[in-house]
Amino acid sequence: MKLNIFLDEKKTVAIVCNQWGDTGKGKFVDYFAKWADIIARGTGEANAGHTIILNNKKYVFHLVPSGILYDSLGKINVVGRGVAFDPRAFIEELNILDKENMTYNNLKISLNAKLILPCHILFDRLKESNAGANKIGTTGRGIGPIYVDHYDRKGLTVNDMLNKSLFEKKLKKNITENLSLLKNYDKEMIKTILMHSHLENGAFYNEETILDIPQIINYYTENYADKLRKYICDAEEFLRENVHKKKILLEGAQGLLLSVDHGSYPYVTSCDTTISGLTKGVGLSEKDVDLNLGIVKAFYMTRVGQGPFPTEMGGELSDKHCSSNTKDTERATYPNASLNSEDELQLGIAVRYIGQEYGATTGRPRRTGWLDLPLLRRATITNGPDIILTKVDVLNDAKKIKLCTEYEYNGDNYYYGDKLIKKGDKIKIAIVDSLILGRCKPIYKEFPGWLSEIKNIKEYKDLPQNLKNIVEYIEKDCNVNVRIISVGAERDETIIKG
Ligand code: GDP
Ligand code: IMO
Ligand code: MG
Repeated sequence: MKLNIFLDEKKTVAIVCNQWGDTGKGKFVDYFAKWADIIARGTGEANAGHTIILNNKKYVFHLVPSGILYDSLGKINVVGRGVAFDPRAFIEELNILDKENMTYNNLKISLNAKLILPCHILFDRLKESNAGANKIGTTGRGIGPIYVDHYDRKGLTVNDMLNKSLFEKKLKKNITENLSLLKNYDKEMIKTILMHSHLENGAFYNEETILDIPQIINYYTENYADKLRKYICDAEEFLRENVHKKKILLEGAQGLLLSVDHGSYPYVTSCDTTISGLTKGVGLSEKDVDLNLGIVKAFYMTRVGQGPFPTEMGGELSDKHCSSNTKDTERATYPNASLNSEDELQLGIAVRYIGQEYGATTGRPRRTGWLDLPLLRRATITNGPDIILTKVDVLNDAKKIKLCTEYEYNGDNYYYGDKLIKKGDKIKIAIVDSLILGRCKPIYKEFPGWLSEIKNIKEYKDLPQNLKNIVEYIEKDCNVNVRIISVGAERDETIIKG
């Protein structure tokens, strides 16, 4: 089916993720950008890594919206107010676009976007380095600390960079409170972090005061502001004026299970990554969205960082393995890992290798597991029933595909509000509570694999029957509509089911 027929009269379409991120939002925002007039990001920060593969060339965007490859055709890419904005990281991405001779003339950055400051990145890294077993495995981009400041009403916005004296006043208030907390940390560690390229290689470090306030003011209100000034505007007003008139594509970041409100707390990011957070983050309402597509990696899933993962291939061994290995070391240690290995750890390694599941932002190995239908059922309650299945081709050579159809609770009695959860209880719709998820044993249903190449297939009817059987099982069992199936990373390796 053709894209314009699929989208019919729709005016606003959103792309979110129903899992732990990295499901292919970049691919699909780029795919739908062909249809859209305006592409808007409403959540996340430089913690996101959205990949587009076009004619074998790889583009990874962190803060710049994934519709930017269409800038030269006049399409407008917007960074909404819900984004935590690191001007240094953003400029770094613009410099890469410059090197590639790609344009970004039609960019808009919301004046209300929350402004990442050096102390946010510093605190994120200090806290993680000192957290021991309680670490979350953050991306070190300052996310947690900026939300603390925001809700403590001492945060700055992008607009503050344009008004030097106000910036200075707000920064001093913010830093005075934050500096007192630095006394709890090792001075050498602080210095090492501040020397990182994400913090301008030490430009913000001062031997006496730790943070060099005049330098921060100069960088933000001069270097950064001068480069970005012409893109900063009231982006919400722009979107409100255009909604229901122009074709708008909303780009989510992270995934529902990483939402601070709906995810596996505390192993989450710090914004609401659902459709509700996304629309709020661009100043619109959920009611404005004609079609919300929730991406689901299939028939496996991944997670980066700490936190429960019931279907993880290799369980705790895999979690430990991923924390202490890189792509190269695991390849050297397990050169024969295969999709048909009986050893689950090796199976997970093979999935990671074939799916290239290494973080687009941090390069970390992503933990791999079978597709978890209890979590999918829960995610679609919030994000709606329309889904895209991605990366289906990764399991082309697997003789056996397993789906987790329900859980068996395997822990001590636990009160979950008015429910008492007991050992042996079956759970069909996941309760996204880290303690419960950590005690759930997956129950699997096995399907025979399709054992053939699928990336050149263009129509749903031409997919192998064994694959369609799994798709149709998921639709029926989870009450969802699979609208699109992605069979490769390239734009055109996409099947619209309808
Ligand atoms: P995002 O964060 O949701 O945008 O996803 P990432 O870019 O972090 O990770 C998804 C990865 O899968 C990227 O490397 C994509 O190029 C790749 N990808 C997307 N869809 C497919 C697909 O259908 N098949 C394969 N093999 N790769 C895909
Ligand atoms: P995209 O948009 C996968 C994870 C981190 C960590 C947790 C908290 O590419 O799907 P943070 O730095 O946000 O405080 O880290 O959230 N995380 C992601 N995992 N994809 C992402 O983005 C992520 N953004 C954050 O790994 O577990
Ligand atoms: Mg990603």
